[in-house]
Amino acid sequence: MSDIEINEVAPRDGLQIESAFIPTEDKIKLIDSISSAGVSRIEATSFTSPKAIPSLRDAAEVVKGIQRREGVGITVLVPNVKGAERALACEVDEINLVMSASESHSLVNLGMTPEQSLNQFYKILELTRGSNVFVNGSLSTSFGCPFDGYMGIPRVLDMVGKMLDLGVDGVTLCDTTGMANPTQVKVLCEAVMKAFPQSPFTLHFHNTRGMGLANVLAAWQAGITRFDASLGGLGGCPYAPGATGNVCTEDVVHMFEQMGVNTGVNLEALLAVSARLPELVGHDTPGQVVKAGMANRRYQIPSR
Ligand code: COA
Ligand code: ZN
Repeated sequence: MSDIEINEVAPRDGLQIESAFIPTEDKIKLIDSISSAGVSRIEATSFTSPKAIPSLRDAAEVVKGIQRREGVGITVLVPNVKGAERALACEVDEINLVMSASESHSLVNLGMTPEQSLNQFYKILELTRGSNVFVNGSLSTSFGCPFDGYMGIPRVLDMVGKMLDLGVDGVTLCDTTGMANPTQVKVLCEAVMKAFPQSPFTLHFHNTRGMGLANVLAAWQAGITRFDASLGGLGGCPYAPGATGNVCTEDVVHMFEQMGVNTGVNLEALLAVSARLPELVGHDTPGQVVKAGMANRRYQIPSR
């Protein structure tokens, strides 16, 4: 049993913002190779409107094509009832329902108010009642919105409470455009865990302002053990101006392993997959350990 659970989001958060369409078979190969590296969950794709997220229009083919592996849960992002129906038809282990804490990002990203999203959640939970599918709720812009600014703690607690009252099994707090700082993270994590002590919380950080790993650490120190992270540091919401990649999975894993915290992930295997990403996406990736090597890397002393 690992101390930390990593949910790999590169196939969804990472690929949703890529302008070039990654062929379905390459997405499947990517997910299969991540799944053999020991992450506990993979967000494989999103069942969104193909007009909104054209790069993931092959969601059903991807989920049906991947190898299912014992101990690796397959989750998918779902914005509405139609998305849930499509996802459930593919026999996913989990659906990750998404809504925004802020009104403006909600309207731009989903064409719905937060209240309308909650209404979709209600209908989706009717569909999943009695099934084994884990229903997670992700709250975008929990730490701030590029249009509306910072969300107060009472607003976030109110939204999280409404999701849990509807019956979601877990909640992810998302820092969609990397506005969070470690002090804010500590305070919000402590507040949600105090208010909802029975609920599993996951934290989802973007490294847009270089605070990603510091925020992961602050959340862990506050008691959070579940993190979203993206291979190579790919990622970003196409409907949030200035969005850039998630915290990089192999950098998060490396940090924890160096600290003696067991992630359950085979870092060497993950680094090998990450090294192939630039060829897949057609550009450099922001991850650092894949370039620098692990901290135990040693060099020959150069001759003078
Ligand atoms: N999957 C596939 N198609 C969908 C769909 C879904 N989940 N939801 C709606 N559609 C289709 C409808 O069937 C309709 O198709 P038609 O034009 O052929 O009749 C069309 O999309 C418009 O439907 P509507 O209900 O009016 O949706 P919309 O255009 O207002 O879009 C969302 C709403 C939520 C589907 C869309 O904004 C979306 O997918 N957003 C996701 C954004 C995202 O993933 N952001 C990054 C992650 S946070
Ligand atoms: Zn994200």
